[in-house]
Amino acid sequence: MKDKKVFISGASRGIGKSIAEHFLINNYIVIGTSRSDSNIDKDYKNYHHFSIDITSRIDIKNLHQSLENDDLLPDILINNAGITDDKLFLKMSDENWDNVINTNLTGTFNLTKVFIKNMIKKRYGRIINISSVSGLMGNPGQVNYSSSKSALNGFTKSLAKELGSRNITVNSVAPGFISTDMTTFLDNNKKDEIIRDIPLKRFGKSEDVSQLVYFLASDNSSYITGQTISVDGGLLMH
Ligand SMILES: NC(=O)c1ccc[n+]([C@@H]2O[C@H](COP(=O)([O-])OP(=O)(O)OC[C@H]3O[C@@H](n4cnc5c(N)ncnc54)[C@H](OP(=O)(O)O)[C@@H]3O)[C@@H](O)[C@H]2O)c1
Repeated sequence: MKDKKVFISGASRGIGKSIAEHFLINNYIVIGTSRSDSNIDKDYKNYHHFSIDITSRIDIKNLHQSLENDDLLPDILINNAGITDDKLFLKMSDENWDNVINTNLTGTFNLTKVFIKNMIKKRYGRIINISSVSGLMGNPGQVNYSSSKSALNGFTKSLAKELGSRNITVNSVAPGFISTDMTTFLDNNKKDEIIRDIPLKRFGKSEDVSQLVYFLASDNSSYITGQTISVDGGLLMH
């Protein structure tokens, strides 16, 4: 597996950075992206960073061309980049809606679309979409975000059905509350309130998510596809 190439969107911080580091420690070739510059330790020689916006199809087309030229097209695609732009529905603007859908859902479409052809050609691939517990149970103030994440679960299932015969698996990971920049805005009272509902009585760490992603990207998960797997301390039980 060590010669496998992994592409991770949103690798500059939080969960995406942790995923990137997990693969780097295990000697994979990692291609990371974010709009900002890389935050990954420069000592990792097998890390390649590209500053692109996943909502821009032109950026993605150019990136694809450059990866193809350098023989860096990924075997494993991790659609991790995502944003929140919370507002109660009555106050939610068109812009709040468009930003979140364009990044979380259309961004995933954009990346998957360009990288899938090479996976089909090689008859091997792993696609992992980072969804959210919010897409499974809903959350006030997150109609845009829940919709985008719920849609990713549908995206995952349909694509898994289309690509199973090509030896490509497609799965979603649905984190609960993970301590990253995305959850720092919550004050301590709100955090305590949330923790009361989490059986494991804590927020998750980025590593809790990256370990599962790593497993789903490995050959040990070759009979798992079309699933949405929660990493949420038991917050939502199906
Ligand atoms: N933290 C949680 O509790 C939690 C729970 C459930 C699901 N999730 C999901 O997990 C994923 C990672 O979340 P996180 O908590 O690690 O968030 P984060 O710390 O805010 O990091 C988000 C990453 O996405 C990148 N990004 C955002 N918009 C982008 C764009 N248009 N183009 C390219 N890169 C973009 C960011 O880099 P730039 O800003 O530099 O572009 C950053 O690297 C997201 O999909 C999120 O929805 C998180």
